[in-house]
Amino acid sequence: MMSDTPLLDTTALTGLVDDLVEHGWCVAQGLIDPALCLTLQRELNDLAERDALSAAGIGRGEAHELRRDIRGDAIHWLNRESLPQRQYLAAMDTLQHALNIELYLGLFEFEAHFAQYPPGSFYQKHVDSFRGRANRVISTVLYLNPDWPDDGGGEMAIFDPATPERELARIRPEAGTFVCFLSDTVPHEVLPTRLPRASIAGWFRRNASLNGLVDPAR
Ligand code: OGA
Ligand code: MN
Repeated sequence: MMSDTPLLDTTALTGLVDDLVEHGWCVAQGLIDPALCLTLQRELNDLAERDALSAAGIGRGEAHELRRDIRGDAIHWLNRESLPQRQYLAAMDTLQHALNIELYLGLFEFEAHFAQYPPGSFYQKHVDSFRGRANRVISTVLYLNPDWPDDGGGEMAIFDPATPERELARIRPEAGTFVCFLSDTVPHEVLPTRLPRASIAGWFRRNASLNGLVDPAR
């Protein structure tokens, strides 16, 4: 696979990595090519129309359960079935190399799903992995909603890892906005959305399943 791709603006990578090191989270605009954001949005709409999304649950394996009171999105795992998916995964491959070079994280794998939050849905405050049993290391979210209105809701709230009651930022899910953060330390929440809300959530992983334990939330 190409190590570099015009689908990802490599000049934005240094600032992104610096922010991640300093704060544990970062927001980038314009990292992913706007045309690719559009084709990904169309693909998610097509998947929804073809009934190819499934209700997202919490917990892995036998502990997996639907909890609409905790999260209300419908998802579809990226599996390289389309060109936009392969292009997005190639862009994340470039990011993975940059993170490995700058942070020595030993990331080796990326998994991601499309997510659609219907009006009224949300995802309660959570972290994406638990320290000590974490093989999800860095979380990513790319938003796919062109012209998201000010009163659309559906922001992602980011909380202080040291003081989880303290909100640090509220990020509008506008197309092209890309967020990444440390999976085991940064609490975050999807506020109730007023409009259908489209995104791709993804995780860079290490191959470190400890005692056969893997992360929840898939
Ligand atoms: C998740 C998640 C945030 C978002 O899927 O784990 O926190 O803004 N998503 O979609
Ligand atoms: Mn999350």
